[in-house]
Amino acid sequence: MTTWDPTRYLQFADDRSRPFVDLVARVQGEPTTIVDLGCGPGHLTAVLRARWPEASIHGVDSSPDMIDKALADNADDRATYELADVATWTAPEPVDLIVSNALFQWVPDQLAVIGRLAERVAPGGTIALQVPCNYDAPSHRLLHEISSQPPYGAHTEGLHADRGTHAETYLDLFSEFGWAVDAWETTYLHVLPGEDPVFDWISGTGARPILQALPEGLREEFVDTYKAALRGAYPAGPWGTVLPFSRTFAVARREA
Ligand SMILES: C[S@@+](CC[C@H](N)C(=O)[O-])C[C@H]1O[C@@H](n2cnc3c(N)ncnc32)[C@H](O)[C@@H]1O
Repeated sequence: MTTWDPTRYLQFADDRSRPFVDLVARVQGEPTTIVDLGCGPGHLTAVLRARWPEASIHGVDSSPDMIDKALADNADDRATYELADVATWTAPEPVDLIVSNALFQWVPDQLAVIGRLAERVAPGGTIALQVPCNYDAPSHRLLHEISSQPPYGAHTEGLHADRGTHAETYLDLFSEFGWAVDAWETTYLHVLPGEDPVFDWISGTGARPILQALPEGLREEFVDTYKAALRGAYPAGPWGTVLPFSRTFAVARREA
């Protein structure tokens, strides 16, 4: 199972938060109960709290390190956190808003899981989700090309699935439920500072399963090769390194 490092993940907190802000901006209504699935270190609770000051907010995440960080930094009397896997987690009461940022690409059979969770959304309630849709970008292509070759391939078998989901998939899914759907895709141009910033970015998220699968020694060798390939694909400019990043959004509202 992939483990998470809140400190490394938060290195690009500002850039990574932007899609969450854009997602939440498209949610209508005044939810009083909000669940944030895959809440990570809980730093985005502040975005929800600013928009809906009175709502109760419950973050769910399967990483003990992320939940510990959320409880330490971002809990209050109406913001709670729970360690759980969304594949099996169920809302005990109907929820007004389920929000989820950069989670469902990690969840096998995500459409079935979303379908099950949708049954716990209150009438008139909303599911708002965002997933990366950049699996054909050089960052991911190079990750999988290099790590599937010897001597790495023997350790990374089964870790090369394309987990990108396009907006049409969510449009179809929620339309079949009879919900009103707003689905779209956007490419952000993140301008990153420092040396090897694309490696730093992806090693906090998408590359973690591959990096963790490689044994010590081999991992360092792979990192050197991968970093060099990333420097070629994303050359540093005078203003920083530009990382184009495509994302899929869906905001779906259940009939009242
Ligand atoms: C890329 S981070 C996103 C964190 C936060 N939502 C944000 O936008 O900054 C993905 C999060 O999903 C969590 N996660 C992955 N698989 C999960 C699962 N099956 N159930 C619950 N959380 C999961 C990870 O632990 C991690 O905190």
